[in-house]
Amino acid sequence: MEKNAVSLRGKDILGLEDFSANEIRLVLETATEMKNIIHRDIKKVPTLRGKSIVTVFYEASTRTRTSFETAGKYLGADVVNITAGTSSITKGESLRDTLLTVEAMGFDAIVMRHKAEGAAAYAAKVVQHPVIINAGDGAHAHPSQGLLNLFTLQQHKGHLEGLKVAIIGDILHSRVARSDIWGMRKMGIEVHLAGPQTLLPRFLYQEPGIFVHDRVEDAIKDADAINVLRIQLERQKAGLFPSTREYARIFGLNDERLALAKKDVLILHPGPMNKGLEISPYVAYGDHSVIQEQVQNGVAVRMALLTLVLTGGKSIEAAN
Ligand code: NCD
Repeated sequence: MEKNAVSLRGKDILGLEDFSANEIRLVLETATEMKNIIHRDIKKVPTLRGKSIVTVFYEASTRTRTSFETAGKYLGADVVNITAGTSSITKGESLRDTLLTVEAMGFDAIVMRHKAEGAAAYAAKVVQHPVIINAGDGAHAHPSQGLLNLFTLQQHKGHLEGLKVAIIGDILHSRVARSDIWGMRKMGIEVHLAGPQTLLPRFLYQEPGIFVHDRVEDAIKDADAINVLRIQLERQKAGLFPSTREYARIFGLNDERLALAKKDVLILHPGPMNKGLEISPYVAYGDHSVIQEQVQNGVAVRMALLTLVLTGGKSIEAAN
């Protein structure tokens, strides 16, 4: 069997559609080692000493930006943050000029979040040296979230192939759903989608291994994991669902619905949660919830991504 060394060195991380299964395995394997570092008393390691990373966020974030920053710092890199509200973006500076400015300062990686789909791919064309890591571009992709969801599933289930995962809610506006679907299908996971018809563009998902349901109950039946999506209230155009109360009643994940899934079902949510809307507080903080663990795994996965794109990490010999 031909052996191929898999490497992500220098790769722009734009979306999981450009990842092979072996590249995803490399990230998950590296993240397992990185997670040990987070548990150490002294977390700093010299892996990225001398490298510099800038986060450029045009949209709000708590977890993603902080976890990229923390990941870079644990690995010994210098990390600087630019957020729209306190930068020259408020003076009307274009995305292109902001990118060229940080490139001129010598940054090795730009971690970027923007409301426009394709913004990260555009950035990768504008700059030469820095790698671009997409931390969310509109409703298109959020690859590091997709990877940390896979990592969380693998840590609990020991494998990914053959799992049944339900993704519930606002699929239409969700970059997390899209990255989940690309990543999960590459790893042999069966994906079941459910949500209000107005938030579920079913024509996009007529592919093998993806099942679209009208009722949440049908999607979560016998599921190994349920990823509950946030209702993206800021992206809703009026009228896509009648009221938040009705949404909670018909589509919200509560303990009654949870009982339809497997006994050891895992509950994921990318955060921030609208508790009482897409997820009940009982489910969010209950025994099946791995939502806090996802946050920690997010740091491990981002440490893995930064190491792999900036240094190549160790390449694993992967079977073709
Ligand atoms: C997600 C995002 O911003 O895409 N959150 C996150 O990154 N943790 C999902 C969301 O905002 O609903």
